[in-house]
Amino acid sequence: MSESPQHHGQWSSRIAFIIAASGSAIGLGNIWKFPYLLGENGGGAFVLVYIACVIGIGLPIMMAETMIGRRGQRSPVNTMAALAKEANAPAFWQIAGWLGIVAGFLILSYYSVIAGWSMAYLFKMVGGFMDKVGPEEAQQIFLDLKAAPDVQLVWHSLFMALTTAILMKGLTEGIERVTRLMIPALFLMLLALDVYAATTPGFWEGMTFLFKPDFSKITPDSVLIAMGQAFFSLGLGMGSIMIYGAYLPKDVSIGRSSVIISIADSAVALMAGIAIFPVVFSNHLPPSMGPGLIFESLPLAFSHMPLGSVFGSVFFLLVFFAAITSAIALIEPAIAHLTENFAYTRQKASVIACGACWFLGLGTLWSFYDGGEWQWHGKTFFELIDFVTADVMLPLGGILIAAFGGWVIKEKVSKEELDLGEYHRYWQIGTCFIAPVAVALILLKALGLF
Ligand code: TRP
Repeated sequence: MSESPQHHGQWSSRIAFIIAASGSAIGLGNIWKFPYLLGENGGGAFVLVYIACVIGIGLPIMMAETMIGRRGQRSPVNTMAALAKEANAPAFWQIAGWLGIVAGFLILSYYSVIAGWSMAYLFKMVGGFMDKVGPEEAQQIFLDLKAAPDVQLVWHSLFMALTTAILMKGLTEGIERVTRLMIPALFLMLLALDVYAATTPGFWEGMTFLFKPDFSKITPDSVLIAMGQAFFSLGLGMGSIMIYGAYLPKDVSIGRSSVIISIADSAVALMAGIAIFPVVFSNHLPPSMGPGLIFESLPLAFSHMPLGSVFGSVFFLLVFFAAITSAIALIEPAIAHLTENFAYTRQKASVIACGACWFLGLGTLWSFYDGGEWQWHGKTFFELIDFVTADVMLPLGGILIAAFGGWVIKEKVSKEELDLGEYHRYWQIGTCFIAPVAVALILLKALGLF
């Protein structure tokens, strides 16, 4: 283990941390997944359940994870080991750190392939290849892309190369600089798309769908989906926010920063919904298209609207920004681990970690190409990785982190680190009781145990 926990460096300011952590949280989860889950699970009612999950479960865990990171100042594995020792708890808590490193790595392998699709679409939009396409054509373009491993390979490789380049530059010159540029730009672009959506004929239909809750649509299933999504979207349970917390100066309030990051993340998810659904309804397309919503329905919708290709290009550029600022957070725990435990330089660690991730991504690429022919227990390679990470490792990591933050770390320490004042009790109720129980339910459900 590194003797000098400070060797990674620190964020240059509170705002630099908030922007970088928002970059981690805001990703494909907000712009690709949230809208289609919402479309499939009843619109407005899902939004309400989602927000309740962010406040009741996500926020306390985010605070716990950031606090653990800052207290440990090391890669997630070494942090968990050091803090467990400090608290006289068993060394097995390190598992939470390992889960994070491995899961982030696994997620990025497929995340990069899907981010590659957004780059491919950006290219198609800017090049005018998506002008005036019909429904069959739009569907065909998406199918063709999924069936073309060579094209996907180019974009996947480019995306991983860019991610590596940012990481090699380090904390201040790499992560901070890129997120400081991309996250505000992303907000502005999304705002412009929302204004555009407000001028479309389907605007009110879209808003009604998004914000009018129909409680009959809430089922136990949709509640669990909302919980899982809140978790993924905030980027919790896997060391991303733990390692970002490790670079956080001592005088920054974790409580307040976490609230801001959660609000930014939820705002972007909702703003994406406001940008997408009116456009979809204006073209009389169904909202419940599943994962193809932004790659099939949306390009089709844009292609029939005034200035559609301009706004379509803006949309895919912002998806790319969202994806790459999350990608660097997904792999940062592995990089910190390599630099600490093997004394690699940051450059070498970035190349090795991202290179291995690129290689694993070929499996996902393949699983789209062979049309799901290769399966294991009814799941393609991509679905397997998604299942193991999002449905098993993430909740497991979340339970461990909540339990560790709430039960193992001394109250005196958490009070001092979080600086929540009279709200500390609510945080304790959240991390000690609500979050572990709720997340355990997600896990049991995913494993088919109830
Ligand atoms: N939150 C990101 C998204 O919404 C993805 C992400 C980044 C993530 N870091 C994470 C997901 C850690 C789970 C755990 O797309």
